[in-house]
Amino acid sequence: MAEPVQGNLDRPITIAEDMECPLDGLPAEELRGICERLREELRRRTVALASAVHELRTPLAIMDGYIDLLWAGKAGDLSEKQRPIVDDMRANAKRLKSFISDFLTFTAIETRSMTMHLQSADLNGCVSETCGLWLPRFQRKGTTLYFSPEDELPPFPFDHLKVQHVVSNLLHNALKFTPEKGTVWVTVEKVAWERRLRTEPISVEKRRREIIKLPKAARVAVADTGPGVDPEFHLEIFQDFRKLATQDQSEQSMGLGLSIARRLVQAHGGKIWVESKPGEGAKFLFLLPIPKPETEA
Ligand SMILES: Nc1ncnc2c1ncn2[C@@H]1O[C@H](COP(=O)(O)OP(=O)(O)OP(=O)(O)O)[C@@H](O)[C@H]1O
Ligand SMILES: [Mg+2]
Repeated sequence: MAEPVQGNLDRPITIAEDMECPLDGLPAEELRGICERLREELRRRTVALASAVHELRTPLAIMDGYIDLLWAGKAGDLSEKQRPIVDDMRANAKRLKSFISDFLTFTAIETRSMTMHLQSADLNGCVSETCGLWLPRFQRKGTTLYFSPEDELPPFPFDHLKVQHVVSNLLHNALKFTPEKGTVWVTVEKVAWERRLRTEPISVEKRRREIIKLPKAARVAVADTGPGVDPEFHLEIFQDFRKLATQDQSEQSMGLGLSIARRLVQAHGGKIWVESKPGEGAKFLFLLPIPKPETEA
């Protein structure tokens, strides 16, 4: 009888094994075809996974409703022993809801099924509203939250809910990673946006003239007094499902918040990054382009 083949689960399957053909020496055209097929396969699997996760929403909403009913004492008073159990069920239902919502946003972006709703609005108002939603959680932890708006900012088109989602993800991290009694500053500023790095030195006067011509952008920053992020990981933390071994392991997380934020900012034609040194807090910033008014364009 043939010996069973031992698979090595520690080693990821190579593309050649997956495609059941050696890739060396294949013409570029065929390699491109294989890449396209793999991409399509990945897209189909993501859609399938998203529909499965989507199906979890209804039973979860029903369970959540009952948990709220128990928690509010509408099905009778809870005993001292029952109260912490229901509290725990409630917290976990909330975590599961947030996981499902994050995962569905992620898959919508992955499968390009996300639509942008760009409407001219006040970014200060949008960011301040998000801070207001988070304030009670900051107060409960004893973390001070400051917000500083930009007075010179004109209304410009952006997707209100998506920008709120980005700011929320940054605030969630700032709250999670900043120890009690810490401080978080949220600022909105209007800046000139230089996309490309310059290789040639230029005179101060030329630079001043160029800056006047540069497109304008709104910059939102969320800075905290937490442990900070080592520069080695400044790019990695924006990748899907990446999280670092941090001090705070008490809250479960998926490592999706920043990758979702990155994609939502990029969908606006903007960019997001972090400035931080370990032990000196972290500052997450993102830029949203402000289109020139029709008359100037
Ligand atoms: N303000 C911060 N201070 C220190 N480290 C941070 C901060 N924000 C993010 N990080 C690091 O970047 C990692 C990725 O962040 P991200 O928001 O993507 O995931 P998460 O918060 O771990 O999980 P999720 O957002 O899915 O709940 C975090 O796990 C943490 O290691
Ligand atoms: Mg997060």
